[in-house]
Order: sequence, then structure tokens, then C-alpha cells
Amino acid sequence: VSVKALKYADELVQTAGKVASKGRGILAMDESNATCGKRLQSIGLENTEDSRRAYRELLVTTPGLGQYISGAILFEETLFQKPEVLLDGEHDIDACLEVQEAVWAETFKYLADNKVLFEGILLKPAMVTPGADAKVKASPETVATYTLNLLRRRVPPAVPGIMFLSGGQSELEATLNLNAMNQSPNPWHVSFSYARALQNSVLKSWQGKPENLAAGQEALLKRAKANSDAQLGQYDA
Ligand code: 13P
Repeated sequence: VSVKALKYADELVQTAGKVASKGRGILAMDESNATCGKRLQSIGLENTEDSRRAYRELLVTTPGLGQYISGAILFEETLFQKPEVLLDGEHDIDACLEVQEAVWAETFKYLADNKVLFEGILLKPAMVTPGADAKVKASPETVATYTLNLLRRRVPPAVPGIMFLSGGQSELEATLNLNAMNQSPNPWHVSFSYARALQNSVLKSWQGKPENLAAGQEALLKRAKANSDAQLGQYDA
């Protein structure tokens, strides 16, 4: 471990701990301009710098958001690419587990070989679910059992936070699955780092119209609170 890394170790561990704090998770808003354009297009807006700024401003100026959101991931500041297992496909949940076990075994081997400080990282995995087009769907309890099995097998308890991406799940599915995982204590803070599952209804409510700003912010706060409750295992649909 380099001297420079040691110098920042305490700060890094403290920051990871703050982000992974009770009842809070991450607002992922690191869409590239192209992806942000797709989201804006879905409500009939042009992908201009002005509309991207208006949308991002709506998100970050939502009053009271800090109670449920402990950090945000921004496009310009994305520091690493993500090892992500996509939801696409017809495969079943067992196939997803097998692939994720292989991915995380390799990832953690490399992290350990490179002396990464596990207390200072946050992991952002996909949940273990059947493919989006699979014939058999999985209940939140099944998703929770498979996903927690995966984490227990592959992720050391020194890692402070597991911040799941939503990966194309519906807003409600993402909340229910997270809630199911927090029904009993876990060695890590099990939380969210959702983009689509926090933003889908924001876009629908906003529609790019200044008069809908408050409605958009209200939609964001509603999803943020629901996921905060789910982080505590107390979400009540
Ligand atoms: P989704 O929650 O939409 O999958 O995006 C999360 C993400 O990975 C962005 O950082």
C-alpha cells in the first residue's frame, strides 16, 4: 500500500461509512449525455444541454432529499466502470447466480491482489434475478434469498456497503426486493444506488414543464423515502 493511499485511508473509510448510513442510499444520475437523451426523449424533450441541466437541477434541488439520499453519482465524476450483470435475457435465476458467483470471485481476487482497502469501498452489484424475459418470475423473498447467498459467499464483511443498481426492474420491484433483503440483519449496509428506479416516475410527472417541477420533485422524494424504508426493512406497500 503506497504512502499516498495510507494518507487518505481514514477519510476514505469515513466517507464510505457516511454513504452507507442507516436508511439512506445513492441517487445514481450518471447517465451519459446519450442515455440522458433517451430518458428525455421518453417525455418528448429534446436532448439539449439546457434540458439536461433543468432535469438534473430538478433532481438535486428536491427539498428534504438528504434525509433519504446520502450521495449521488454524477456523469463527469464516474470514477470506475461497472464489472455489471445485465437483466436482459430469458435465463432463470440459477443461471444468474452462477454467472454472478464467477464475476464476484474474480473481482474480489483482483481487488485483494491489488491491496484495495475493503473498508473503503462500496459495491454496486445487480441483484440475482431471472432474466427480464424469463418465463418464471421470482418473488422478492426468492430474489432476497439468492442475492444474500451470493453476497455471503463472495463479499467479505469488511466491505461497508452494498449499493444495488435497479437494472431495469420496475420502481416497485426494486423497492420490494431491497425491503426483502433487509428483513434480518446483514453484515453489510444493504441499500440502493438506483437511477431508473428513482427517476422513472420523476420524468413522467415532470414532462419537461416548469409548472411540473414540484410534482417531479415530489415523485423523487416518494421513491427515495420508499427505498429508505426498504433499507430499514420497513417498507409497507
Ligand atoms: P439503474 O438503477 O438504472 O440500473 O442504474 C444504476 C446505475 O448503474 C447508474 O450508475
